[in-house]
Amino acid sequence: MELDQIKKQAFEEINQAKTLSDLEQIRIKYLGRKGDLTKILRSLKDLPLEKRRKLGPQANELKEIIQAEIKKKIQKLQGINLRAQKIDITAPGAKISKGHLHPISLILKRIEEIFCSMGFEIVEGPDIETEYYNFDALNIPKEHPARDTMDTFWLKNNKISQRLLLRTHTSPMQIRYMKKNNPPFRIVVPGRVFRYEATDASHDVQFYQLEGLMVDKDISVANFKAVIQEFIKAMFSKDIEMRIRPSYFPFTEPSFEVDIKRKDSKEWLEVAGAGMVHPNVFKAVGYNPLNWQGFAFGVGIDRIAMIKYKIDDIRLFYSGDLRFLNQF
Ligand code: PHE
Repeated sequence: MELDQIKKQAFEEINQAKTLSDLEQIRIKYLGRKGDLTKILRSLKDLPLEKRRKLGPQANELKEIIQAEIKKKIQKLQGINLRAQKIDITAPGAKISKGHLHPISLILKRIEEIFCSMGFEIVEGPDIETEYYNFDALNIPKEHPARDTMDTFWLKNNKISQRLLLRTHTSPMQIRYMKKNNPPFRIVVPGRVFRYEATDASHDVQFYQLEGLMVDKDISVANFKAVIQEFIKAMFSKDIEMRIRPSYFPFTEPSFEVDIKRKDSKEWLEVAGAGMVHPNVFKAVGYNPLNWQGFAFGVGIDRIAMIKYKIDDIRLFYSGDLRFLNQF
């Protein structure tokens, strides 16, 4: 094929090309390894010098011209595509899904608000405790039967003389706080606690408690009753009843248990242990039990959340199941 003919034909085809792959076919047809123009360029070396001098530059020039023409057309086609892909900047954006607080955190926030409004201060303590703070200072010496009801996870540690454990309740913070502060005061201590127990719908190896402690002159059971009643009233609607019944804890005397129930139900649910601070506990922190009185309580936060949200299995809180968590 003559160069002129190649040029004419190639231009025509480029002109008619509608897609990028059409153009690629054209490039291969003329400039590919076995392309028409490539063949001519390859055959140059076999031509007599005279002819080669004339045809060589022409063929090379045509190669560049065709390449340039293809490039121009590619840009044109891409321009058309861009126009087809134009963006509607007024369209609403894709929604970004946000996380939210865990139901236990939501309930805890509310509980803290209520106690803050009654003048309680919030303090926190360590999850890992010493045997002394978790038991001994709370009037639970070794061999005391109460230790059996609070079996827990002991840590292996060689360096510290005290045995370490995952706290079984938030009550050790009573001791830590009183050793560093003088009465009068009122505090609440939210936190995670651990028990080495078989799990079921209302028991798990970990759960949350809120410890309360108020110490002053002339504190009585009446003060405790008023505070806990106010809390229950603020937390739940009016259709919840509360009762206080006698119980036993080594670090309070007398001791109580607080139960609540819906007015339309017969079932009482235990939500807190409580009592007047035992004189031995005051002695352990260096207070004179003749000068000070106080009450302490431990609310089960999970229980409160279960009643508030009507959840029947405590293990759901710690399952990480999004079908459960997305409902809050
Ligand atoms: N610490 C007790 C428990 O975990 C609850 C409690 C706290 C009882 C404070 C009395 C006073 O069962």
